[in-house]
Amino acid sequence: LGLLTLTPLTTFAMSKHHQGSATNLRVRQLPEHLPLRQLPEIENFSSSTDFKTRLTLAPTPVELTGPEHTALWLYNNQITPLIQVTEGDSVEIQVDNHLHQPTTVHWHGLNIPNSEDRGPHDLIAPNQSRTYRFQVKQGNAGLHWFHPHPHDYLADQIAHSMAGAFLVKPYQDPLPADLPAYLLMVTDLRLDSQGQVAPHTHVDWMNGREGDILLVNGQRNPKLELAPGSTLRLRMINACAGRYLRLILDKHPIQLIGTDGGYLEQSVELDELLLVPGQRCDLLIKLSDEPNQTFALQKLPYDRNWMGPVPAHYLIPETLMTLATNSDSPAPARVLPQRLTEIKPLAEAEVRRQIELSEVMSNHAMVSMSQEGDDQQSVASHQQGHGNHGNKAQHRPASMMTGRPPVEFLINGESFTPGQIMFTGKVGQLEEWEIFNNSHMDHPFHVHGTHFQVVAEQDAAGVWQTPDYLAWRDTVNVQPNQRLKLRLVFDEPGEWMFHCHIIEHEELGMMASILVQ
Ligand code: C2O
Ligand code: CU
Ligand code: CU
Repeated sequence: LGLLTLTPLTTFAMSKHHQGSATNLRVRQLPEHLPLRQLPEIENFSSSTDFKTRLTLAPTPVELTGPEHTALWLYNNQITPLIQVTEGDSVEIQVDNHLHQPTTVHWHGLNIPNSEDRGPHDLIAPNQSRTYRFQVKQGNAGLHWFHPHPHDYLADQIAHSMAGAFLVKPYQDPLPADLPAYLLMVTDLRLDSQGQVAPHTHVDWMNGREGDILLVNGQRNPKLELAPGSTLRLRMINACAGRYLRLILDKHPIQLIGTDGGYLEQSVELDELLLVPGQRCDLLIKLSDEPNQTFALQKLPYDRNWMGPVPAHYLIPETLMTLATNSDSPAPARVLPQRLTEIKPLAEAEVRRQIELSEVMSNHAMVSMSQEGDDQQSVASHQQGHGNHGNKAQHRPASMMTGRPPVEFLINGESFTPGQIMFTGKVGQLEEWEIFNNSHMDHPFHVHGTHFQVVAEQDAAGVWQTPDYLAWRDTVNVQPNQRLKLRLVFDEPGEWMFHCHIIEHEELGMMASILVQ
């Protein structure tokens, strides 16, 4: 039985509304425990060592949950395809847009020239093509990804599963090549009773959309079976629009060995790990010596300060995938290198900037949300708007507001406006950004074109703490009222975006840019 039948809470939601039960049925029809599929690799057409390919973006009928086909918008007809290159490679990718709306491609995590990664700018119109050309820098090895970035179309495109993985392999990997390693790309989907991607609701816009079908590599709860005692490497991308993944592996500690920007210096043992939208993690797991066992890799509930009625799945653990030991004799123990890389701490900053995240909403937004959320359990009590910045949302053109609640998410009191630049910086300059979350919800803060180090963060009591280990990241979670300090250097000139990686918050204004000269 599917996970949605596990709690009385869900039974309540299912019996009360037809629409809800149709969706839940679909989830149950998706098979579980199929062998984990590898991400489908995008072909390299280049005969040299470098990489050249073509991505065709089009509505693609996919058989997901039943006889009807779901129209997803996919690159090369694949759910979560994979591009694989090596650091130093020259890359040429032609993107053909066969959607009925404009798009762009953002190479999330790649430190490439701005002309090839302009975020919401440089639209590829319907039936047009654009060729991206760049060289992957040395030192940029890691698990990255690509996804669209056109303003006003982004949330819809992400909801239709437009995203792929971009793996940059190092010249020399400190880990042995025969170590079993798997790439996992996590997405979610919500379908309507016709099996098509459901339109956004006000609740989606407010909180960031969470689909009720949770997928790993396009599969529901796939299974990965290995010899008992095996050491394996799992590298994961949270490509969901709004879902936070508080990861835990049944009966196993997890060793974190890498983050968005590549390896940590050495592994860190954790009981659980919070992977927020946009982030990647690199994990080592030493599987139990016991044969014929199964262990769930789960997402535990995490309260990201949801506004209004909470969806049923939010409150229960969800299984992402199942790890299993087979009946083989135990795999021999492996000795892996202690030290994986060197991370030099970034020095004192030359420039300091303040970045405040906030939201503005009118009472109307809350009223329509609670009506819409009738079929869901209401457990959150945040019913108050945050009006410190004036009611800016009401001044937006009506056309922009269609289907969206009158709420805006702001950076330093501003809603994103194309062409408007918030900061000006210099190539090579050491920057320190103090991020202050002055809103009621958690926000995953993301920067384009570079990676940062978190150098200080406030704990729940507001006391500044130094993180336990150095890591290169491009996305970090900020809780309400929390402040944290990032250090970063841009080595490429141009206008670089920074934004909340909850896709709907980004669309509703929580994005700005720095012009690096
Ligand atoms: Cu993956 Cu601008 O983001
Ligand atoms: Cu990005
Ligand atoms: Cu946000």
